[in-house]
Amino acid sequence: MKHVTLLLLLALLALARPTFAQESGTEKSAREDAPPALQEYQGRRIAQTMHWLGAEWLIRNEREREERCSLMLTSLGVKPGMTVCDMGCGNGFYTLQLAKMVGEKGRVYAVDIQPEMLKLLQQRADKAGLKNIVPVQGELWDPKLPPGKIDLILLVDVYHEFSHPVQMLAGMRAALAPGGNAVLVEYRGEDPEVPIKPLHKMTKDQIKMEWLPNGFKLAKEFDKLPWQHMMWFEKDEPK
Ligand SMILES: C[S@@+](CC[C@H](N)C(=O)[O-])C[C@H]1O[C@@H](n2cnc3c(N)ncnc32)[C@H](O)[C@@H]1O
Repeated sequence: MKHVTLLLLLALLALARPTFAQESGTEKSAREDAPPALQEYQGRRIAQTMHWLGAEWLIRNEREREERCSLMLTSLGVKPGMTVCDMGCGNGFYTLQLAKMVGEKGRVYAVDIQPEMLKLLQQRADKAGLKNIVPVQGELWDPKLPPGKIDLILLVDVYHEFSHPVQMLAGMRAALAPGGNAVLVEYRGEDPEVPIKPLHKMTKDQIKMEWLPNGFKLAKEFDKLPWQHMMWFEKDEPK
């Protein structure tokens, strides 16, 4: 029965993903101010956006065992009172936990381009009684964050989906407070044992090739997650 449910979910995702990409492509061409979407960046093919109909997968029970999410969170260095951002928050798997970590005096900006994801996030936040979350509907090319205010931007399994990586990197850079960091978590592209499609993985070399020319420098790395790279970037002068 479990296998049947899984197969149904995968079939749904396979159907839904191209539809969203096509729809968002139409929206992009319909908007006069939209910069062109890339298919590739620095030799890497850009992955399609995960459709909100697959959001249950993000809160699956096995996620902690597979990805050691709690180890990632304790390694982040989030403190009470901080202003943080969960970039590409989906249905808020990490947003809710970050909201508890920053406490009542802190704030979490939760950014996603899919309003349905933000609705699911809001429902989960209301149920948990969390009031320090600010949902933000970003554009594919603009995170819509306040400038100079964010101490830490967390990006889990999202950067490889950005159709406008250069604009998104510039927008996040502008949003960082002095001394702030963007922390990138991506499935390891160098490791064939990580059971994720290659399009949804990145190597460290590829990450550096994309982030360093866009005004970031690598500040720290944590290599103890089972499936993912975890890399801290801080502002550098644009090259
Ligand atoms: C694979 S999900 C990961 C969700 C969440 N980070 C997690 O780990 O549970 C990727 C999410 O990023 C969002 N996304 C893709 N491109 C984005 C962009 N340019 N700005 C904000 N969110 C984006 C998608 O809509 C999707 O909800």
